[in-house]
Amino acid sequence: MTVSSDLIADDIEQYLERHANKTMLRFITCGSVDDGKSTLIGRLLYESKLVFEDQLTALENDSRKVGTQGEGLDFALLVDGLAAEREQGITIDVAYRYFTTERRKFVVADTPGHEQYTRNMVTGASTADLAVILIDARKGVLTQTRRHSYLVSLLGIRHVVIAVNKLDLVDYSQEVFDNIVAEYRAFTDEIGLKNVVPIPMSAYMGDNLTERSANTPWYDGPTLIDHLETVEIDDDVQQRPFRMPVQWVNRPDLDFRGFSGQVTSGIIRPGDRIRVLPSGKESTVARIVTMDGDLIEAIAGQSVTITLTDEIDISRGDMLASSDALPPVADQFEAHVVWMGEHEMLPERPYLCQIGTMTVQARITKPKHKINVNTMEKTATDTLALNEIGVCNLSFDRPVPFDPYADNRDTGGFILIDRLTNTTVGAGLIQHSLRRSDNIHWQAVDIDEKARETLNSHKPCVVWFTGLSGSGKSAIANELERKLHALGCHTYLLDGDNVRHGLNRDLGFTEADRVENIRRVTEVAKLMADAGLIVLASFISPFQIERQSAKETIGADQFFEVFVDTPLAVAEKRDPKGLYKKARSGALKNFTGIDSPYETPVSPDIRIDTTSSSTLDAADQIIRHLLERGIIH
Ligand code: ADX
Repeated sequence: MTVSSDLIADDIEQYLERHANKTMLRFITCGSVDDGKSTLIGRLLYESKLVFEDQLTALENDSRKVGTQGEGLDFALLVDGLAAEREQGITIDVAYRYFTTERRKFVVADTPGHEQYTRNMVTGASTADLAVILIDARKGVLTQTRRHSYLVSLLGIRHVVIAVNKLDLVDYSQEVFDNIVAEYRAFTDEIGLKNVVPIPMSAYMGDNLTERSANTPWYDGPTLIDHLETVEIDDDVQQRPFRMPVQWVNRPDLDFRGFSGQVTSGIIRPGDRIRVLPSGKESTVARIVTMDGDLIEAIAGQSVTITLTDEIDISRGDMLASSDALPPVADQFEAHVVWMGEHEMLPERPYLCQIGTMTVQARITKPKHKINVNTMEKTATDTLALNEIGVCNLSFDRPVPFDPYADNRDTGGFILIDRLTNTTVGAGLIQHSLRRSDNIHWQAVDIDEKARETLNSHKPCVVWFTGLSGSGKSAIANELERKLHALGCHTYLLDGDNVRHGLNRDLGFTEADRVENIRRVTEVAKLMADAGLIVLASFISPFQIERQSAKETIGADQFFEVFVDTPLAVAEKRDPKGLYKKARSGALKNFTGIDSPYETPVSPDIRIDTTSSSTLDAADQIIRHLLERGIIH
């Protein structure tokens, strides 16, 4: 059996109509699989006497599961949308379940409790009003409970339910419950979580979920569903200034030019003055268009298309904001960062950053401290490992409009994505911009690269040699430089060993140090190419992301990657500096190819097989390439 999309649409429409005047509560559940998270959600649905098992099974593989027959608490609809945002290969798995009781509509973001848990929690939490934090009564307050609670407080969720679960397994002991609550409260006082409601429960047995349990006569608070139905949500998102990140620009060949997106805060009406950021151009809202006709106003949460009275250039990623209350625009920030990558954070490595509807390149320029979630102590750090939370300085590759996260979750929150694997490795919450970004400007100069180039008989470029230690990079680079010099070219050879004596003498061979080594060398090579030179850079440069970043920084048309392809066994046999021997004996740590990785170039401009060609041949091969590419004549 399948459910057609029409049916789904009809059901949703009926559902929305039937419950239009009910308030909506968005909540998340936090805890691991073992804490009984799925049992709790399952039980909540079951207790509400839902009858749509059939459809659920039939649609097991469908991303949308719909049931419509409700009784009991009047469950009207369940859309189990596994919100898989596959755009750009990013997968964020949060199952949003919609349900209704007589008093309220609910959306619960069910975050799968596997190792990617923190990531999913942050994603699911970014829109939540309330968090249900599960504690296993037998285990009490764990490090994980503290981490989740701290995240909940960072994420700006103001209401917390502490579900002390599996109470049946401790004989419904009031003492166990009271002790856990006391310990938890001591912690939440410290992190400033105020509205905490503890409920003794057994999700499995159904105690205090939808009906008061006879097993806990000592408890006189609300049941979970009572509390969820009545808790007051101070939803002030409409009172905040108007913001709408542009998701989509209508094609100009349509009869009107509109800008679509979701209003993330505030209210907008035709006639309102708005400004487009980051360009700063101003205009007036002409119409607010939806599928069901024009609106007289749109509020936070609504997806609309806005047309303006002026023809201005706007593209996806821009932000429309109220002219009276503009967001600041900056490219450097201080932010809380929650690290979710298996691999530790590498400062200065370029990551993709999604903020609003914009994708930019971001580098963590300086991790400042990390927070011990057990003691709330701050310790200075150079990096963040999986699940660690810290405060860092970041730098974006262009200015973006933003609000501090505390003011606006949508325009102040971002995620960081690894460029190679396309996985989410971090989430960030902007605290404020750094003054620096407002005060340092680019100084314009009159003599530019073109002018310098005309004095030379060649164009500038960077020939970047990568390969294992002992692969022959420096020998080939040296030979190439001699040839270029003989041809009358202005050259400079930047070599790993030499640069590490001066500019980079503070760096060693950890991954983070190698990232920084290559970043600095890239900047130096760029300056030298800008000065008109043919730069030969000879570095192991073992990581693909840094080589790619060098190419982007310098410009693809004047960057040539030369992969000096020498098998490890051959390089090790040559061992010109005796370093492989030391590495094998354990006297030298983090040696490339032995106990530190080398990522083979995927599509180098030139590949040199040193087992079959001589140093001279290799240099000639590169000269031919430079001739073909018009660098030299
Ligand atoms: S990179 O990895 O950061 O690009 P770089 O090219 O600057 O390395 O320096 C590599 C040179 O440092 C090698 O040719 C070798 O002489 C020396 N060296 C010393 N220790 C190491 C090590 N652990 N790994 C690799 N090279 C090392």
